[in-house]
Amino acid sequence: MKKIIVAIDGFSSSGKSTMAKELARTANYIYVDTGAMYRAVALHAIRNGWMTENEIDTIALEKHLHEISIKFRTNTEGKTETYLNNKNVEKEIRTLEVGNAASRISTLPFVRRELVRQQQEMGKNKGIVMDGRDIGTVVFPGAELKLFVTASPEVRAKRRLLELEEKGTKDSYAEVLANIVERDERDVNRDESPLRKADDAIEIDNSNLTPEEQRELLWKLFSEKAIITNND
Ligand code: DC
Repeated sequence: MKKIIVAIDGFSSSGKSTMAKELARTANYIYVDTGAMYRAVALHAIRNGWMTENEIDTIALEKHLHEISIKFRTNTEGKTETYLNNKNVEKEIRTLEVGNAASRISTLPFVRRELVRQQQEMGKNKGIVMDGRDIGTVVFPGAELKLFVTASPEVRAKRRLLELEEKGTKDSYAEVLANIVERDERDVNRDESPLRKADDAIEIDNSNLTPEEQRELLWKLFSEKAIITNND
């Protein structure tokens, strides 16, 4: 088996991180959730008062960006958790508030430049599954397997609501749907690395796929690229 780079892009709550995590586990690859990196930067900016609902102090953020260290560690249950300056922030970064802040902060070119640099470094030895918005277009344009995951906003809102409920937060369906639509709009229309399907990415609309169907499809696509056959 040869080691490849798998780039998975798509809309928020499209299920791309579940796909990416499962594939990484089965293939014994590193998994990187780049959304968590933007969320961690946003959390740090909020905590330090560099970001409010209406404004971002870009001067302070740019000045202090190099002090932010983001790492991923696997917990005892085998789940990847995000660490910000050596503190576990997995729970804190998953709120709607931080998701929104991450979406705003990710429009800043200097933030993207730094995080893209770190992501490219993480993938330099291949054997990695990375999910985000610009992985197939900007971070790894040469990735061997590129997927673009979509699902209707309503399906995604229902999934997101379930996730949030499991975490004990109480948001309404209408709130979650509005949040998804707002973030889609920002992710697609921003000037800097907008979300778009790379020309050579395979599009998967999983609105009507069961987890099992999705898993099978993914493994088939991965095997075609990563497993060397007699014909190679
Ligand atoms: O995937 P997520 O919802 O955790 O991402 C949070 C925000 O970060 C999302 O609104 C867009 C941004 N993001 C990005 O711009 N580029 C990436 N590679 C990953 C996420």
